[in-house]
Amino acid sequence: MKRIVVNGANGYVASHFINALLKKGFPVSALVRSGQDESAREKLLNSLQIANGGSLPSIQNLEVLDYHLTQEYLGLSSGEVRRLFQGEVDYYHFAASLKFNSKSRSEIFATNVDGLDRSLAMFAQSASSKARFLYIGTAYSCGIMKGAFREQFYPDAGIESFRNYYEQSKRMAENRVRMYMEKYGIKSHVIRLSQVVGHSRTGVTNTGYGVFDFTRRLARLSRNYPQKRIRVRIDPQGTQNMIPVDSVVKQLMQATTTNDLPVVMNMVASESVPNRYLIEVLNRELPLRLEAAPGLKSVDMGSVERLVAVGMSFTGEYSALNLEFDTTERDRIMGQEAGLVTRESIGRMLSCFLEAEGLVEVAE
Ligand SMILES: NC(=O)c1ccc[n+]([C@@H]2O[C@H](COP(=O)([O-])OP(=O)(O)OC[C@H]3O[C@@H](n4cnc5c(N)ncnc54)[C@H](OP(=O)(O)O)[C@@H]3O)[C@@H](O)[C@H]2O)c1
Repeated sequence: MKRIVVNGANGYVASHFINALLKKGFPVSALVRSGQDESAREKLLNSLQIANGGSLPSIQNLEVLDYHLTQEYLGLSSGEVRRLFQGEVDYYHFAASLKFNSKSRSEIFATNVDGLDRSLAMFAQSASSKARFLYIGTAYSCGIMKGAFREQFYPDAGIESFRNYYEQSKRMAENRVRMYMEKYGIKSHVIRLSQVVGHSRTGVTNTGYGVFDFTRRLARLSRNYPQKRIRVRIDPQGTQNMIPVDSVVKQLMQATTTNDLPVVMNMVASESVPNRYLIEVLNRELPLRLEAAPGLKSVDMGSVERLVAVGMSFTGEYSALNLEFDTTERDRIMGQEAGLVTRESIGRMLSCFLEAEGLVEVAE
């Protein structure tokens, strides 16, 4: 079986993927940066345990290497690099800074563009011609555009073409991948994800980004202001493209065993969930009365509404969107059903998330 190398391995999506790879018997080399109080191995095992529902999967085919995106050859020894790229290898680059605020600009580019560059350089110099570099991108690197975001490369653009530096950095990153393909002839693929959420069947959700971050904030407020009417600057006609983590893992597993992968794939849901539905679920789950008020001005907000608006400083950028993603290439390889996501499963994730975080009373 080919070796699967994964960086950013302890992250949310990567750890779920590694869990599935280990269960299928793939040898996995996981690159994790050690923390102040935790070794790389401890960090990965903690994430794997969560991804596997509380217990560790079998880890006899797993090796963990401590790495640094900031160093040449990612801080790995020449022996480690040689071993990593022996035989047939798929190398998955997951590592990224998911920060959005302007204050983190230099960290975002240092991680998402310069860090990727070092990863690509190591691959180009060390991997065999059979090895593949799979870059995990985001469907939001579409930035501010009209029409469908196609499964192709788009040129770099200034910050005015994006909602934030994260999106801009991920677009630049795709073009670094392209440059290495053209200049050094490496075999590479870009896999773009939309918002990765919880498990479609069980509802278990171990991520707190986007809609879930918003949900957590509202739940906390509703404790202090029960039954309060709260208007939020959200377009009820706007939509969120959310893809369950089990669906992403299934498609990544398929990518691993597919030889003729497209160069760019949009791994997104075929139908987005309307904000109107999400508001309905939150009103059902939480003791508050949330109302969509897209035109609400700051001066007309009450104090609680202002608190909610501050907490939406990032998610707000995504609250009036109806993005369209082309999935022709993804569907050709994975089948159209790969993008199927029901609203009910997203509703279930919101309920499970609130319960797991202890944010709602659970009926006996
Ligand atoms: N989650 C989503 O909804 C979503 C949507 C679209 C695209 N994506 C893409 O999917 C990938 C994984 O996302 P995720 O949600 O799983 O993210 P995550 O849980 O935040 O994981 C990010 C990983 O990157 C590592 N990392 C960050 N900065 C690093 C640095 N300077 N050096 C080395 N490692 C570093 C983190 O290590 P530490 O734990 O040590 O910080 C972690 O292992 C990212 O490329 C992201 O852009 C995610």
